Amino acid sequence: MRVGVLTGGGDCPGLNAVIRAVVRKGVTEYGYEFVGFRDGWKGPLEGLTTDLGITQVRGILPRGGTILGSSRTNPIKIEGGVEAIKANLAAQGVDALIAIGGEDTLGVATALHDHGVPVVGVPKTIDNDLSGTDYTFGFDTAVTIASEAIDRLHTTAESHHRILVVEVMGRHAGWIALHSGVSGGANGILIPEVPFDLDEVAGWVESRFRSHYAPILVVSEGALPADGDLITKDQTLDAFGHVRLSGIGDWLASGLEAKTGKEARASVLGHIQRGGTPTAFDRVLATRFGLQAIDSIHDKQYGIMVALRGTDIVRVPLIEGTGVLKTVPAERYDEVRTFFG
Ligand code: F6P
Repeated sequence: MRVGVLTGGGDCPGLNAVIRAVVRKGVTEYGYEFVGFRDGWKGPLEGLTTDLGITQVRGILPRGGTILGSSRTNPIKIEGGVEAIKANLAAQGVDALIAIGGEDTLGVATALHDHGVPVVGVPKTIDNDLSGTDYTFGFDTAVTIASEAIDRLHTTAESHHRILVVEVMGRHAGWIALHSGVSGGANGILIPEVPFDLDEVAGWVESRFRSHYAPILVVSEGALPADGDLITKDQTLDAFGHVRLSGIGDWLASGLEAKTGKEARASVLGHIQRGGTPTAFDRVLATRFGLQAIDSIHDKQYGIMVALRGTDIVRVPLIEGTGVLKTVPAERYDEVRTFFG
């Protein structure tokens, strides 16, 4: 059995831990061979490969990023893309493919499986917005980084009696903002699922100053003012139709300065949340996902995604992960409103 492996979409801490687990178990227990496809779906599309074996996975468990490279290439949008992938897999003698990615990458995996490609998916994203799994790896690391940043911003906000706005990632789902905001003791959390009213946020800020504390607000990059539009860097779309976000933090800081007369600053955490070494939780989750993915290949069970349910790693149909995004339920947001203001 020869297995292809690729990582697609935005990188995230834990990708290398999955690759290592897949290869270690595949080689030592099942005697499989591996080939790495480089840069997401671009690899099988263009026949870009790299050696993948025990030597290549040695020492990569704690390393961030992905040794295979990544991209947001969408082969479904390219004429003849599916056929090119099938031809390149055949040329490489690949019997089955493991695709490690988020909504977009696994959406392509779902379509390819419908075209007869034997594929197993492994869900990743710092955003934690994939359905079918309780958590994706990368999320815990991103939340840990954001929450450490919030701790640091508290002290500088207090010293200068300023408002500090922390912009975190989260295009459609506010999981990073919610978890880092709660763990960092934010005075307001703004998420894409619940459009916010600037006057209400200004009210939280003023109440915080009245109790002699400086307010920290955590905002997802995809959060929306109730009476405004999504704030974007530019209108360019990627291959999956997403615009480049970022800017809501600055927008909020200047809006709050104007409304409250208090000085405000915005910190955009950006790709810092995605870089560097994974937390222990993410290393364990990614490792368990990798072990289950190679077992699924061994059982010739394709068209599935590995998933965390409670403390168990299970297999669910790929479509369960990619059909609907997992956003923050209203009640999860409402329960933390008590800390706002
Ligand atoms: O999908 C994960 C994610 O980190 C989103 O939260 C963010 O909007 C996006 O990727 C940014 O992607 P990039 O800058 O790598 O194109």
